[in-house]
Amino acid sequence: MEIRCTDRELFIFEQIGKAAEALQLPCYLIGGFVRDKMIGRPTKDADIVCLGDGIELANKVADLFTPRPYVSFFKTFGTAQIKLEDIEIEFVGARKESYTHNSRKPEVEPGSIEDDQNRRDFTINALAVSLNKADFGKLIDPFDGLGDIERKNIQTPLAPAQTFSDDPLRMMRAIRFAAQLQFEIAPETFTAIKENAHRIKIVSQERISDELNKIMLCEKPSVGWDLLFKAGLLPLIFPQMIDLHGAEFVDGKGHKDNFYHTLQVLDNIAVNTDDLWLRWAALLHDIGKPATKRFEEGHGWTFHGHEVVGARMVPKIFTKLKLPLNEKMKYVQKLVLLHLRPICLTKEEITDSAIRRLLFDAGEEIDNLMMLCEADITSKNPNKVRRYLQNFELVRKRLLEVEEKDKIRNWQPPISGEMIMEKFGLSPSKPVGIIKDAIREAILDGEIPNEFEAAYAFMLQKAAELNLQAVE
Ligand code: CTP
Repeated sequence: MEIRCTDRELFIFEQIGKAAEALQLPCYLIGGFVRDKMIGRPTKDADIVCLGDGIELANKVADLFTPRPYVSFFKTFGTAQIKLEDIEIEFVGARKESYTHNSRKPEVEPGSIEDDQNRRDFTINALAVSLNKADFGKLIDPFDGLGDIERKNIQTPLAPAQTFSDDPLRMMRAIRFAAQLQFEIAPETFTAIKENAHRIKIVSQERISDELNKIMLCEKPSVGWDLLFKAGLLPLIFPQMIDLHGAEFVDGKGHKDNFYHTLQVLDNIAVNTDDLWLRWAALLHDIGKPATKRFEEGHGWTFHGHEVVGARMVPKIFTKLKLPLNEKMKYVQKLVLLHLRPICLTKEEITDSAIRRLLFDAGEEIDNLMMLCEADITSKNPNKVRRYLQNFELVRKRLLEVEEKDKIRNWQPPISGEMIMEKFGLSPSKPVGIIKDAIREAILDGEIPNEFEAAYAFMLQKAAELNLQAVE
């Protein structure tokens, strides 16, 4: 075997070779599995291409294992899958493809292994390994994919314009692989992406967003976003990000380029977390800046309220990108909304009540919010950076102290809306909300202690101000 496999993988490939021989269907291991093994990345998905019916081969392979693995298949595509422990194996017949202009769905006809390698996206993904008796384990590399792995180079096997026009998703894949593997895209391949960028419109949003999420999970996600920008794909798939780009000047005063600032924040947070949604919050934290940008005489550039506007943009962006509209979206929205709060705390005196409010508003998300705020420090001035970090250290210390004392995180005020309704014979209505909010505010402000007795007395007092009578 010219690739380094585990004993288990080798055994599985030998069994596949045996089944293929019995059926007289030459077969090959191909694509991402071979690439990743050559690079030394962990990989669990193996693609097998055979000169014949992939479903038939999958069934024959399944027969060789006990217990017999379940074979799932798609007759229309001629593909079949089996799972052997944690290895997923996909079988397909070798194909020659031609694409129509308006669809990613190819017209397929059976082909040779060369035909199949020709139609693949990149040379590094077109490597195949024979599983046939005569030359088991031999690498078949017609496009010097191995050389491209060594040179860390991404290029298409055929003319790049053809490869991208056939399947425009590959433009996103090129950029994602560049970011994931820290490879370069070959100049003529990148030029073809720029020229074909408009074709991205025929790709489904789900596929585009899958690639965006993969870029987000890279060690340095900025690489992918910057390439999307430079390739001209970004305005087509995520125009709000483009609005962050550039710096405007008035009276010689400019503001920072919020696109590159954002990418720096994203890279900073990626050092500390693999949480996809925290990374999305970093990407979107300043998304409200273009809409709130003002030049104020004597003051310079301001972005007042950009956190509120940004938080409001989050659901729209998630909807457009077909990202989940569930608690993940709410989490991102919350972090965008609150991302300035800890910074504000470092500017003024840090009162207990301000800390309590932050704990109450951030709840479970307080640690991630602090992580976002620290990632937001992108100043090039080491003194400033040191000062900010010291201030955040102080905020963290105060958060711990106040939380220890007052237990505000995940806190619910001691008097509920139901209690208020019952005491004064009210149905859900405005006065209930007024009293409830007043109790919460009084506790957060430290006016009354966080205890039932004190809150109850305060409720009676507020109710009296509203002329409410208790029911006996
Ligand atoms: N492929 C292609 N064009 C695409 C998608 C896939 O030519 N638009 C080919 C490539 O040869 C690729 C193989 O199909 O290696 C398997 O595709 P897939 O499983 O999507 O990607 P991998 O390369 O395995 O990488 P990853 O799992 O990271 O997406």
